[in-house]
Amino acid sequence: MAFEPLRPGAVIGILGGGQLGRMLALAAPRLGFRCHIYAPPGDNPAFDVSCAHTAAAYEDEAALARFASGVSVVTYEFENVPSATCAALERLVTVAPGREALRVAQDRLEEKTFLSRLGVPVAPFTSVAGVQDIEEAASRIGLPAVLKTRRFGYDGKGQAKIVSRSGCAEAWSAIGKAPAVLEAFVPFDAELSVIAARGRDGSFVPFDIPENWHENHILRQSRVPARVAPETVGWAGDIARGIADGLGYVGVLAVELFLLRRSGREELLVNEIAPRVHNSGHWTLDACHVSQFEQHIRAIAGWPLGDPSRHSDSIMQNLLGLEVDDWERLAKEPQTAVHIYGKAEARPGRKMGHFTRLHPLGAIAGKGK
Ligand SMILES: Nc1ncnc2c1ncn2[C@@H]1O[C@H](COP(=O)(O)OP(=O)(O)OP(=O)(O)O)[C@@H](O)[C@H]1O
Ligand SMILES: [Mg+2]
Repeated sequence: MAFEPLRPGAVIGILGGGQLGRMLALAAPRLGFRCHIYAPPGDNPAFDVSCAHTAAAYEDEAALARFASGVSVVTYEFENVPSATCAALERLVTVAPGREALRVAQDRLEEKTFLSRLGVPVAPFTSVAGVQDIEEAASRIGLPAVLKTRRFGYDGKGQAKIVSRSGCAEAWSAIGKAPAVLEAFVPFDAELSVIAARGRDGSFVPFDIPENWHENHILRQSRVPARVAPETVGWAGDIARGIADGLGYVGVLAVELFLLRRSGREELLVNEIAPRVHNSGHWTLDACHVSQFEQHIRAIAGWPLGDPSRHSDSIMQNLLGLEVDDWERLAKEPQTAVHIYGKAEARPGRKMGHFTRLHPLGAIAGKGK
């Protein structure tokens, strides 16, 4: 069934009330839309900036039905939307990006299998469900390796690095003895990501590629442009397009990549995909004509995708935990955009906000961190 572009005034439903939902809900009204956020009770900063919200469990079918009856399309800010929730909503309303993207992104084994079938390069991996499996897999894949739970990992949670055979049992306990994949440790030179949108008509629009620096498995900084060869940028975009087409995707998609330099040549491996707007795309709010958040809203609303070009170089940095208390100093800095998420409690490592320092185009090329 053809999807008519949503007219200004329509209501967009968003599952999840965190900072990504909040930034989507801030972008949508610029195009004349209103947002209804659905999230379980708790600290939901997206509620503060939307015209309607429902605080209910994802399993509450009656609440889901009421929510669906008042919105024209449903999207989500996180990939762990229960599949039953998605199925219940899909019976009543269009859900984008949709169930296939969730199925693949929710399970690292499904994800890596899907990517391999598409011919996308990934680190060697294998499915494991016990210490003996891990030991066998480690002899095949080699060490060091990383053990990752198949489901529910984020910010490095549910992961353990294994450096020697004797560490297999400890790693298995560390990840809570959950079904997992063992993958080769990648001695990457840099991490990159592609943030791109695919429209309902199959159009594909990538943003420029950021280079990402993680600290304790949590994103610390994204800088654009990345210090990579132009061919690498093209290759990364092709990989993301193949994935988006393969999923019949609608919306903004993130593809996290490892970059390796081998004898002067740049190689890419896909780490994981996120069927949503992404932390490494926050700089688009201030350095681009259209942000990842507006682009996502455009895509799911069936609008033409916007111009992703940059008017500035930029470095985005997360404000984790109590770092958010620095807001006053940052707010005084010229050419710096400060974003505070309005979360109630600044727990250590929690993403409380971010800031983006803007520089003239070409100004940060070749510069270090
Ligand atoms: N195989 C690997 N080799 C080397 N480093 C890795 C590997 N897998 C993960 N890492 C490091 O850990 C970080 C987090 O890993 P990954 O993206 O798989 O986890 P996550 O918990 O899903 O995180 P998030 O959802 O926040 O991106 C990566 O960005 C990278 O820095
Ligand atoms: Mg990741």
